Amino acid sequence: MCGIFAYKGKRNATKTVFEGLKKLEYRGYDSWGMAFKKQGKIQTIKKVGKIAEFNKKIPENADYAIGHTRWATHGKVNEKNAHPQLSNNKKIAVIHNGIIDNYMKIKNILMGKGYNFKSQTDTEVIPNLIQENMKKSSFREAVKKSLKTMEGSFAIVAISQDSNEIIAAKKMSPLVLGINDNESFVSSDVAAFLSYTDKAIIMDDNEMAVIDEDIEIINLKENKKITKKAKSIGMNYEEAEKGGFKHFLIKEISEQEESIMRAINQDREFIENISKQIDNAFGVFFVSCGTSYHACLSASYLFSKIVKKHVNVVLASEFINYKHFLTENTLVIAVSQSGETADVLDAVRTAREKNSRIISIVNVPGSSLTRISDEVIPMNAGQEVSVLSTKSYTSQLAILTLIAYACAGKYEKGLGLIRKSAYYIKKIISNDRKKIKSLAKKLKDKRDIFIIGRGLAFPSALEAALKIKEVSYIHAEGLAGGELKHGTLALIEEGVPVIVISTSDSEANIENNANEIKSRGGFMIGFNSHESNIYDYFIKIPSLENMEPLITIVPIQLLSYYLALYRKCDPDKPRNLAKSVTVR
Ligand code: M6R
Repeated sequence: MCGIFAYKGKRNATKTVFEGLKKLEYRGYDSWGMAFKKQGKIQTIKKVGKIAEFNKKIPENADYAIGHTRWATHGKVNEKNAHPQLSNNKKIAVIHNGIIDNYMKIKNILMGKGYNFKSQTDTEVIPNLIQENMKKSSFREAVKKSLKTMEGSFAIVAISQDSNEIIAAKKMSPLVLGINDNESFVSSDVAAFLSYTDKAIIMDDNEMAVIDEDIEIINLKENKKITKKAKSIGMNYEEAEKGGFKHFLIKEISEQEESIMRAINQDREFIENISKQIDNAFGVFFVSCGTSYHACLSASYLFSKIVKKHVNVVLASEFINYKHFLTENTLVIAVSQSGETADVLDAVRTAREKNSRIISIVNVPGSSLTRISDEVIPMNAGQEVSVLSTKSYTSQLAILTLIAYACAGKYEKGLGLIRKSAYYIKKIISNDRKKIKSLAKKLKDKRDIFIIGRGLAFPSALEAALKIKEVSYIHAEGLAGGELKHGTLALIEEGVPVIVISTSDSEANIENNANEIKSRGGFMIGFNSHESNIYDYFIKIPSLENMEPLITIVPIQLLSYYLALYRKCDPDKPRNLAKSVTVR
């Protein structure tokens, strides 16, 4: 979490960093700050709240600037804890993403030498450690020495009053350099500088970049200068803009016909080769978090149904518990929109230690996951800015569905069904929007919403609940229809809304569950193909062999969006969350 952006070059530095931070707010948005060098002095500005809401003038005419948007890990959300953090002598400023595991030890040592600490952050040890090391060496040597002391996973950017360099370094947290004529950018992701340049150097772990007139990259382990060429990123800046929509969330929901079509525009031989690897592997694990996990779970039902193949679906944060089952014949398929989710990266590293093969399905090109995988299937969803995963979910599901059909020897059939789903999705978005908005109006003041589904519709129920709760803050719970009677039915009383998702092969059973709820006064909402008088509100989903999970989630994404609007929640930046979860 946390966004880093720094700039040195011909433009107005503070303004460029300010704009860059706005694009990185999806990584954290509880506070923000900037440090810049002006008239030979380091100056800072720090604010609590979203950067987009700041409407005062920012200082100008700085030589260069570094900025940060925060997602709190250590210390409350306040200006003191916002970054940049300064050294005691106020000559060194540091911004930081990640966690310094041994910061208490470093802090105690520095306190013993007379240093004071004003924040509750782990970050504040860094500028002070650099100050201490600068007693005997230059800025860059002092940063190097400090990095050796620091344990954990982090990306940092530092500036000093006694140097003209911006120094950036990383260890297991993302950091990218943007390169253009006479100007350099440092950022947590490429999208934040894409409007200026699409040439980037992706930094690897244990590398340090020294940015002055030129950029020098140093491999910290070997303590030597290395050469890395800037490469074109191949991502379109336009994709990152709202394009006339009020929020990224509705923009991203609306573009799913195209994103699904892009997702399945893969090389057939490549996908069939992956299906062979699945077939031959001794144990297949799908590993992911949050929405990506739901896509994997959904796909596992399809693998069971059409391939008759068992795949293990494991939450990345729990994967360590499965390490004893991993061998060099195991295939791990890691699925992640960002490719930076710390839990997923940890899981893949665990699998690597056991020499298992790693295939990843990733949206962000050049992300960490792409670089530690044996093979990468690009999701091609285009940049997803809203914290809510929407188009990335349907792209993941489309790719996994295509692989399942390839495994069953029915590649063409899978392709055809997915294409048809994309068309249905487009129709739902244009035809049912009003009806879904009215439903949101009816539900907006409810305390709880329950969602049930069976078979292929069960993972959809979990994903539906996640979408509703994360953006509207209404408590939403997804469960298998059969589980209701084992406990949750106790919560059903007059007017409690229950959404029933069904697929053609689970219809009969789920209707029994729906009746159990109806007879206890539940407000019944059907999201399925079969209209029935059980439902108080009904959204028709076209029936299409095994494709319901791909289609049904879209009207529920829309429902979540409208719930957020009615409840005055920010649809793009839900409280406490971040797009890329780089902490454990
Ligand atoms: O980038 P990833 O796909 O690895 O992210 C995993 C989860 O953090 C993510 O899916 C999260 O649950 C969604 N943003 C929720 O909409």
